[in-house]
Amino acid sequence: MPTRVQSWAYVDPTATPRIVTETVPGPKSQALNARGMRYMVGYSSQVTLCPVVFEKGHGVTLTDVDGNTYIDFSSGICVTTLGHCHPKVSEAIASHAKNLMNCHDFNTPVKVALLEKLAETQPWDLTGVQFYDSGTTAVEAALRVCRAATGKAEFISCYMDFHGKTGHAVSCGRMNPTYGVGRSQGFYMVPRPDPYRPLFTKADGSIDTDAYIQFFSDFIEHATTGNVAAFVLEPVQGWSGSIFPPADFFPKLRQFCDKSGILLVADEVLTGMGRTGKYFCMEHWNTRPDIVTVGKGFGNGFPVTAMLVSEKYKESIDKISASTSYGGNPMACAAALASIEVIEEEGVLEHAQDLGAYFNERMVAMKTSHPLIGDVRGMGCLLGIELVKDRATKEPFAEAGKLVYQRAFQKGVAWVPAGHMLRMSPPIVMDLEIAAKGMDIIEESIAEVEGELGY
Ligand SMILES: Cc1ncc(COP(=O)(O)O)c(C=O)c1O
Repeated sequence: MPTRVQSWAYVDPTATPRIVTETVPGPKSQALNARGMRYMVGYSSQVTLCPVVFEKGHGVTLTDVDGNTYIDFSSGICVTTLGHCHPKVSEAIASHAKNLMNCHDFNTPVKVALLEKLAETQPWDLTGVQFYDSGTTAVEAALRVCRAATGKAEFISCYMDFHGKTGHAVSCGRMNPTYGVGRSQGFYMVPRPDPYRPLFTKADGSIDTDAYIQFFSDFIEHATTGNVAAFVLEPVQGWSGSIFPPADFFPKLRQFCDKSGILLVADEVLTGMGRTGKYFCMEHWNTRPDIVTVGKGFGNGFPVTAMLVSEKYKESIDKISASTSYGGNPMACAAALASIEVIEEEGVLEHAQDLGAYFNERMVAMKTSHPLIGDVRGMGCLLGIELVKDRATKEPFAEAGKLVYQRAFQKGVAWVPAGHMLRMSPPIVMDLEIAAKGMDIIEESIAEVEGELGY
């Protein structure tokens, strides 16, 4: 079991979490929110369902303005993978903030060091790089590179995928930010294998990956013009509740893409840079993507993202006018470089794998005693619990998800709501004792909600 303590991030498990106000949010949070919410509009449900005001983050904990300290089970939104304010990352950002903040896309010593370091992190030849400042812009750039590289215009992505909220990136995912305008021309969606809710199964009831691949082939023939540039996929569907594909899906999709002359884009904005216990999630399935996007944990909180393109297609980056105002600025590169160095120096990938084993064992045990839980899954520190009204019908139970989210938050676990899914993405530097405490609180909250709902 993983008990390693990352000394800078140590918190006393007997005193964490610590809720000192009668209500959560406490009075100071309420007062500040009243002021902020006069102007700021468009908060996520993470905030509206539990509107506390955070003041400080340290390692695996967050503290609000009322002095309540929470265990962080979301890392922002899968961003602070190495915990809040890692001293090495904070120092790297601060020293560059004092020295040189921006010089457009000129090379700087720290950018060159990051480029060389990035090449060392991967088992592939993704040597064509551009840096950006959000996951969405990196995805948009990747789509443009695909078109430039192949001379083809169409894209295929999957139901429940999420790749960003603007322009073409949104056309690779859910449509709710488009106000009924719909998907951009040439963007198509297909179902992908979800082991808990499979569409295609074999006679023995197991998921039939070959049937999905056959469906893709038929779909391309009948629904597209045959002009498909790329498949764009999340390795694990994060936003949708940590949905993991069967182990044979990506290797088979790779073969299909090769056979069909289609590129494979792995959007690792959420899964990349250690979240699942490897630098890149696609490594788990030994599958080489043609293009990878990374973000979130890449700068451990600093807005820095990247598009990595394989050697074969990297010249196409030159055709897309790839640079931006902030991409690759010295502070951003320093944050990303320091984060990779921390991963190397502190052995946190192995720790994330150990933690993943603990979380999985714990969630499987929880499922046996809580009828509200329909399915559990996880890899490293990317975890999901699906709440259902009835295990036989698998009907999603969104109201239960909301109640469990709020209850656990009030007891000291800061995390993310997602309808009937409980999404958990703690920092990968978490000690076992604190991880266990967080899971105790989540289980206790599920039990209380079950009691209230008459289970
Ligand atoms: C897989 C994936 N791609 C792209 C994005 C968009 O990233 P950003 O919010 O930084 O624009 C996200 C954000 O959640 C994501 O999870």
